[in-house]
Amino acid sequence: MRHLIDITDFTVEEIEHVLDLGDKMIADPAAYRECLRGRILATLFFEPSTRTRLSFESAMLSLGGSVLGFSSADSSSTAKGESLMDTIRTVSCYSDIIAMRHPKEGAPMAGSLKSYVPIINAGDGGHNHPTQTLTDLMTIRRQKGRLSNMVVGLCGDLKFGRTVHSLIGAMSRYEGVEFVLISPPELKVPAYITDELKRKEIPFREVETMEEVMPELDILYMTRVQKERFFNEADYIRLKDTYILDPEKLRTAKADLSILHPLPRVNEISTKVDDDPRAVYFDQVRNGRFVRMALIKTLLEWEEMKA
Ligand code: NCD
Repeated sequence: MRHLIDITDFTVEEIEHVLDLGDKMIADPAAYRECLRGRILATLFFEPSTRTRLSFESAMLSLGGSVLGFSSADSSSTAKGESLMDTIRTVSCYSDIIAMRHPKEGAPMAGSLKSYVPIINAGDGGHNHPTQTLTDLMTIRRQKGRLSNMVVGLCGDLKFGRTVHSLIGAMSRYEGVEFVLISPPELKVPAYITDELKRKEIPFREVETMEEVMPELDILYMTRVQKERFFNEADYIRLKDTYILDPEKLRTAKADLSILHPLPRVNEISTKVDDDPRAVYFDQVRNGRFVRMALIKTLLEWEEMKA
């Protein structure tokens, strides 16, 4: 059974199929309004979410399907001590596909071993977030018309930022992509990711300020400092406002830079940037619904093809 746990579970061709379908759905949503009538998506969110959970739910409803689930662990039998495995096995008897978010790295992967239906990782701790990456890829491709040959700057909490880890995994498979990793030393990308970049001979640089690289960037991917993953509040307070993107810092940027952020934003992008045509973080929000429609439809079709 096919799941989406890590973005590299899908080949580049499979990802492009999902992105193409997402584009078609944006162009003609009415054509897909009934295509999953009678199918059920379960959203199991053991961690807070606004966009990911609601875009999954909106996606399924927009395809004529139905949704059930919970949005916090305390409203499920997890609060009574039920194991994740038993919860997943149970919910997979009530649904055709499951999107789950969990604070523990690897939880969706473990869940997929027991599930009777496809599992989509909607974020596992500080590890991965493949459906945000589909959203990001769709947004970049709609902006630039390509996913190859560009300088991608990732800025902020690159240590705990799961969206960053998945985006690097996805974009490293395209030709001519160079990464500029902008973070304080304490929040650098984990070594397992830079080791992989080195092994594949993909160019990357680690720097501490966005000013020094701004003129080179085609993409600037800003991230929130992940407060919930810190062991020590003092460290969070010290690091939380390291980067604040404002119109002044964008003065040296390319005219066709695209500024992305998975959201939620705290302070890292001034609201003064929102009206800049290069700011596309609310396009990401809109694309997130359509790319999840495309993903759910594709995974369910793969299941049917097997049957
Ligand atoms: C991200 C996440 O949950 O990892 N949000 C999202 O899903 N759009 C980023 C974040 O929380 O900072």
